[in-house]
Amino acid sequence: MKQKIMYECQQCGNRSARWLGKCPNCDSWNSYSEVDISHESRKIKVSKAYENKIVRLSDISSNKNFRIHTGISELDRVLGGGIIPGSIVLVGGDPGIGKSTLMLQMCAHLKENQSLYVTGEESLEQIKFRSQRIADVPDSLLLMSDTNAETIDNAIRNSDASVIVVDSIQSVYSDRIDATPGSITQVRECTSLFMQTAKQTHKAIFLIGHVTKEGVIAGPKILEHLVDTVIQFEGEKTYSYRILRSQKNRFGSTNEIGIFEMSESGLREVLNPSEVFLAGRDEDEAGIAIIGSMEGSRPILLEVQALVSTASYGMPQRSSNGFDMRRLQMILAVLEKRLGLQFRQNDVFINVAGGVYLNDSSADLGIAAALVSSYKDMPLPAKTVFIGEIGLTGEVRSVSSIEQRLSEAEKLGFSAAVIPQASASKLLKKF
Ligand code: TYD
Ligand code: MG
Repeated sequence: MKQKIMYECQQCGNRSARWLGKCPNCDSWNSYSEVDISHESRKIKVSKAYENKIVRLSDISSNKNFRIHTGISELDRVLGGGIIPGSIVLVGGDPGIGKSTLMLQMCAHLKENQSLYVTGEESLEQIKFRSQRIADVPDSLLLMSDTNAETIDNAIRNSDASVIVVDSIQSVYSDRIDATPGSITQVRECTSLFMQTAKQTHKAIFLIGHVTKEGVIAGPKILEHLVDTVIQFEGEKTYSYRILRSQKNRFGSTNEIGIFEMSESGLREVLNPSEVFLAGRDEDEAGIAIIGSMEGSRPILLEVQALVSTASYGMPQRSSNGFDMRRLQMILAVLEKRLGLQFRQNDVFINVAGGVYLNDSSADLGIAAALVSSYKDMPLPAKTVFIGEIGLTGEVRSVSSIEQRLSEAEKLGFSAAVIPQASASKLLKKF
C-alpha cells in the first residue's frame, strides 16, 4: 500500500500536512512527528441493514448485581461500586506510585481464572518477585508477558478471564501501524483495539498508563475520551499514603476517593482516614486547624497547617501544598481587606497533612483560621473543627452535608465546631 505521511502532535494529536515547530492547538514545542496514515484510509464496510438494530428500552435486560467486586473496597468505591463488565478503565499515575502493585493485588483478590495480568514492562520473574512481597497472591494467578497488541488481544478473547490488566498501554504496539510503541498513534490504535474487544466480549480491561511530565495520562487527551473510566493514583513521594481518584467515570461519581498506604507487603486500605491523618499531631501549636472535609460521600477530618513569617526578600512568597493557590490568594485578600491583617510583608506557606489535595471549598474557614493563628502566634482552641466556605465579602457560606461532617468530628472526640450561620440555623430547625 502506498504510504501517506502526515505530521502529528504527540501531545494532543493535532495533525498537519507539514512539520510544525509549535503546535497551534496545544502550544507544545517540537511535538510533531511523522505518521503513516495509509491504514486509516481503508474503506470501512458499512452494513446497511438496520432492522434488528432498533430496540425498545424495555427489551434491554438489566441486572442490578452486574458489577464485579474486587474485594478491595477502596478500589470498588472509586470505580462506582465495582467493575463493570465490558468497560475500559485507564489507570494513571506517576512512575513508582504503585499502579502495578494495585492492579496485581486486584487480580489476586478475584476468583481463580477470573483475572489475567498482562505485562509489557516487566519480566514474569519480576512479577513473581513482586507477588512474593504482597500478602495472599494465589499461585494460580494467570500472567502473560507480551508487547504485541494483537497477541494480547487474542489471549484476552480466548481466555476464561473476565478482568484483564494491561501494564502498560505505552509498552504495547500493533503490527498494523508503523509507529513506535508509546507514540500517540500506537497508544490510540491499541486502545481502540482493546475497546472493541471489551465491548464484544463483555470483559473488563484495565489499561495502566504513564503520566507525562505535563501531568497528562499517556500524553494524548484523546485517550480519556476513548475509555469509560479514568482513575488516577496520586501521592506525595514523602508520604506512604496514596490516593486513588476518578477523573472520569461513565458508571459512577467522580468525587469518590480511595485511600491506601504503601507498606512492606503491598498496598493496605485505609478505612479510617480521619484517625490516620490526625494521628501524631501537636494540638497546641499555632497555625494548625482541623477541617471537616467531604471527599465524595465520605467525611474526612484533616489537619491544615499555615506558616506566616516575615519575608526575607522583597517579594513575599506564597506556597501551597494540597490547596488551590488562587483560593489561598483570595482568602489572604479577604483577611487583609476585612480584618486588616497585613500579609504583604509576610511569606505564607500552607500544607495539608497526609499529602491530600483539597478539592472542597469548605476548607476555606480552616485555612483562614490557621493563617490567623500563625499570624498572631496563638494556637486555636483544642478539639475544635472548622467548616465553611469564605466569600469575597468575608461572609462564611453554608456547605453541604454538615451533619455528616459534624458526626465524624464527634466520633473522633471533637467537642466544638465553627460552622456557617446558615448551616447552624438549618440544624437548629431540625431539633
Ligand atoms: P509499582 O507498583 O511498581 O509502581 P508503578 O507501577 O506505578 O510504577 O510500585 C513501586 C513502588 O512501591 C516501589 O518504589 C516499591 C514500592 N513497594 C513497596 O513499598 N511495598 C511493596 O510491597 C511493593 C510491591 C512495592
Ligand atoms: Mg508499573
